Amino acid sequence: MEELVNQIVSWFNAYYGSFENLDQSQQINFGIKKNHSERVASLCMNLAEKMKWTPADADLAYLTGLLHDVGRFRQLFEFNTFNDEKSVDHADLGVKVLTEEGVLKWLDDEPGEIIIQSIQNHNKLAVNSAVKGKQLFFAKLLRDADKIDILKVLSEYYNNKNGKQNHTLTWELPKNPEISKNVLKDILSGKMVSKKNVVTENDVKIMQLSWVYDLNYRPSFEHLAKCRYLEAIYNTLPKNDVVIDVYRKVKVFVDNRILN
Ligand SMILES: [Fe+2]
Repeated sequence: MEELVNQIVSWFNAYYGSFENLDQSQQINFGIKKNHSERVASLCMNLAEKMKWTPADADLAYLTGLLHDVGRFRQLFEFNTFNDEKSVDHADLGVKVLTEEGVLKWLDDEPGEIIIQSIQNHNKLAVNSAVKGKQLFFAKLLRDADKIDILKVLSEYYNNKNGKQNHTLTWELPKNPEISKNVLKDILSGKMVSKKNVVTENDVKIMQLSWVYDLNYRPSFEHLAKCRYLEAIYNTLPKNDVVIDVYRKVKVFVDNRILN
């Protein structure tokens, strides 16, 4: 397995480097996605180890993380956007890239299918109900690691006031301090906030806090608590009764998932 991991890491780096004539903003975005992929890979592996998965499965988890956004490079190159709705589903494109590049041929059937299903289900509202068994374990792990890394990036971004605006993170929404009724209703009833209810910039932050409801594994909650990403996002919200209520609710949820 170790040799295979090295082979795929080398391929990933070569593939990343194979795009020519990128403009400056594309170069920056390529780097952001590469770093994100590498962090998600490491996190998948660490979480798998915490759950005492076998070393081979922890390696495979690493690969799902490394490859999950591989479609992003061609998406940005060809369409100049990370918006799937305006271009293509980047998960489907990722699987296509791996197939065309012959990477999947290096893997046996079982790990190959695990990688495909994990990638394909990482950016959907939920894992397809047809995905079962080991494929489901890996798909859920990747979803956890991906969300945790996005929360990390956001918590750093929101707290770095001198940093440049990044509209792919804030969606260019109005900055008024209100939080929409339906957003509150969703999160306070223990549901993920639906994108269609998001109207203000603070709605986005509340939506991001609600991702905890979609985390699967205890080590994911432990990691989130240890790194204090939710707290960091909360600290950038106005401290009024509703916000305090929301944060308490989310925090209790996380604490309970660590204890139970
Ligand atoms: Fe993705």
